Amino acid sequence: MTMDLLIPDKVHDETRQGEALILEPVGKQNGRKLYIESYGCAMNFSDSEIVASILAEKGFETTSDFNNADVIFINTCSIRENAEVRVRNRLKEFAGAKFRNPGMVVGVLGCMAERLKAKFLEEEKLVDVVVGPDAYRDLPNLIEQVDGGQRAVNVLLSREETYADISPVRLNSNGINAFVSIMRGCDNMCSFCVVPFTRGRERSRDAHSVVAECKDLFDKGYREVTLLGQNVDSYKWSGQLAEGAEPLAVGDEITVVNFANLLEMVALVSPDLRVRFSTSHPKDITDEVLHTIAQYENICNYIHLPVQSGNSRILDIMNRTYDRDWYINRIDAIRRIIPGCAISTDVITGFCTETDEEHNDTVSMMDYVKYDFAYMFKYSERPGTLAAKRYADDIPEEIKQKRLAQIVAKQQEYSFYRMQARIGKVEKVLIEGFSKKSDKDYCGRSDQNAMVIFPVSENYKPGQYVNVLVERTTSATLIGTIVE
Ligand code: SAH
Ligand code: SF4
Ligand code: F3S
Repeated sequence: MTMDLLIPDKVHDETRQGEALILEPVGKQNGRKLYIESYGCAMNFSDSEIVASILAEKGFETTSDFNNADVIFINTCSIRENAEVRVRNRLKEFAGAKFRNPGMVVGVLGCMAERLKAKFLEEEKLVDVVVGPDAYRDLPNLIEQVDGGQRAVNVLLSREETYADISPVRLNSNGINAFVSIMRGCDNMCSFCVVPFTRGRERSRDAHSVVAECKDLFDKGYREVTLLGQNVDSYKWSGQLAEGAEPLAVGDEITVVNFANLLEMVALVSPDLRVRFSTSHPKDITDEVLHTIAQYENICNYIHLPVQSGNSRILDIMNRTYDRDWYINRIDAIRRIIPGCAISTDVITGFCTETDEEHNDTVSMMDYVKYDFAYMFKYSERPGTLAAKRYADDIPEEIKQKRLAQIVAKQQEYSFYRMQARIGKVEKVLIEGFSKKSDKDYCGRSDQNAMVIFPVSENYKPGQYVNVLVERTTSATLIGTIVE
């Protein structure tokens, strides 16, 4: 994949391959083993932790080997066609294990389950159970139905479900960074996007439960939380104060919490807890949010602000509800209020009817912003979306590919430019562990989300902050040494 070079972390990497999740058993075991693999965005990975937690309560133990599992779950993504193709191929690989162990339950969870619903059972004979993102509490019942010889489906979407009371089991965790879902669903109707159909209406999670989860993580030694939502800037929670609870923001009995308030509340958990968030929508990111980021040292100076296109006509038919000037105004506000803030983006090339000139507006937007990172995709038509209904997917594959290659090359230049600018600077790094290549080096991320590698010092452990003087860079990593 051409984009791999530019993927700085796990948060936005929708191309993530399936990863098996392992957890410690909690409570009494039932002797059955669960294998769960996740695809897609961070929200899906976070949901798998909720699923694992629901089943751990029922005594399931996890395994990293699907061949000796009693239940195989695959948590799927529908964002582009190739995400679905990958899942279909993976299901074929489970067929042998199911053949050897006919009692095995094979389940499809997540966005592809929601999109295809019962059709999945017709199309894939191997699959016993299909469960959408809002129905995970029903999993123990659904597994029972399958044990009783039926195939089962629950793809009901909910207007309320936020799993607020379920404390996720942290899977494959380094004990330092954690994802915390703050909302579910999406009410924007970007014309290319399948998410509103697979995840349902937008709803915000109880602010108290978000803060409580972050506090609990901090007490357990975690030092970084990433607040997750498809559009975090539209977070809005209003609710009754629990008896004895401190008021959260303005108001007495009824409290309304917006995203800026929530960021502040999480930042106040501890100055040693780093706060990140994803994804920000250009139409909703306010100066209030930017001032909150600027005010708290522990809210990281890094914003993922997907532009999708630099051309106003294309943005209009994408139904993004902002135009080029609005986006530039938001970039200027970030630069003014949070000097030095890193900015990354998502771009789609070859959207319906896009001309070469309109594509060049995307290129010139990249020249204007000089993004630190970008995730770049060819438009992939998704059944049922507004774009699929209204516009022909009329840009030939070679042109989509050519435009993609052009912006990937451009982004490589700007990523390199941004990395080079860090040489000679001192970065505050949260140590995450040993580097992938050598246990003589530590790795961790800077405030602006760059990966930093430096020699291990006995004085510091993972989970601590160190100052690192950057001496050189590779295409995606800063390399340096600890300075006191
Ligand atoms: N909520 C986030 C995006 C989530 S999907 C936001 O609004 O920015 C992540 C990215 O996948 C999108 O930003 C978009 O760039 C890309 N994407 C979504 N649908 C796509 C499609 N049909 N074809 C190609 N890329 C798509
Ligand atoms: Fe999709 Fe748009 Fe919602 Fe993002 S904001 S999830 S791109 S509909
Ligand atoms: Fe994919 Fe669903 Fe996330 S479609 S990107 S897993 S919300």
